Amino acid sequence: MDMILEKELKNPSIFKDESKIGFDYVPEKLLHREKHFSFMVKCFRNFINKPGSVSENILIIGKQGSGKTVLAKRFGASCKTISKKNKISLEYIHVNCRLEKTSYRIVLQILKKIGIEVSSRGFSYSELLEVLLNEIKIKEILLILILDEIDYLQRDCYQLLYDLLKSNENILDVHNYISIIAIANDLTFMENFDDNLRSVFLCNKISLNPYNKQQIFDILEERSKICFYEGSISHSLLHKIATISESKSDLRYAIDLLRKAAKIAEKNKSFTILPEYLEKIA
Ligand SMILES: Nc1ncnc2c1ncn2[C@@H]1O[C@H](COP(=O)(O)OP(=O)(O)O)[C@@H](O)[C@H]1O
Ligand SMILES: [Mg+2]
Repeated sequence: MDMILEKELKNPSIFKDESKIGFDYVPEKLLHREKHFSFMVKCFRNFINKPGSVSENILIIGKQGSGKTVLAKRFGASCKTISKKNKISLEYIHVNCRLEKTSYRIVLQILKKIGIEVSSRGFSYSELLEVLLNEIKIKEILLILILDEIDYLQRDCYQLLYDLLKSNENILDVHNYISIIAIANDLTFMENFDDNLRSVFLCNKISLNPYNKQQIFDILEERSKICFYEGSISHSLLHKIATISESKSDLRYAIDLLRKAAKIAEKNKSFTILPEYLEKIA
């Protein structure tokens, strides 16, 4: 058995770095989202350059697979890198509102990310929020909170959203230290907001169109460069995947096809992804 394991492990792989074809990987370069990224930078210029002077909120709208999550995460990660260089304390936190169902859990998650372990028992929501705002105030932490799939935010959490947006003005005086990037499929979720929340939820809006065939090709080509060894996949096969995927308007589908075809190549100990592998899965 050890011999089999050893032999398998020694087998050459098509992957230079398999993690880079994973859904959660956040590439350095986001082709066809440069303009949106620049817009976000413009919005956040003063938030980062002059900490505490102004906060900004952004709402990213687009269909599934249009790159909303990856754009927000890339932006957060880049802000973190630049703020480290400038010796500013900045945290970006990604919360999926479909998974984190209560205000309590969301605040706990934020606290954990900024390095505060609180026992999840014994504190009320308001107490936890106060701990958070105090910490932000004392340590002068700039907080970029990404509320992903905000369409799924439970009504219970509206108070949290209001509190965070309003905290810039409240008694703890956390002046403009919190910015929110909200992500949704469309604008309908706001219909449930009451007037109070609507009046504080002021956002710069970014709409992402689904990627077209050429854009899907460009992105797949770029991802292939960082995932596979050179020459592992032909342009014509990448075009084929882009053509098949365009009708789904979901880049995730295209990346999944590429990943699955690559896995078949690996299983077959092939150094190239052949058209027949794609035929098996498409
Ligand atoms: N411009 C891009 N360059 C590289 N990969 C991208 C790009 N846009 C999206 N992706 C990838 O496509 C998949 C879907 O993107 P995602 O951000 O999850 O879409 P959404 O949040 O709109 O459903 C993810 O694996 C993501 O990494
Ligand atoms: Mg998403």
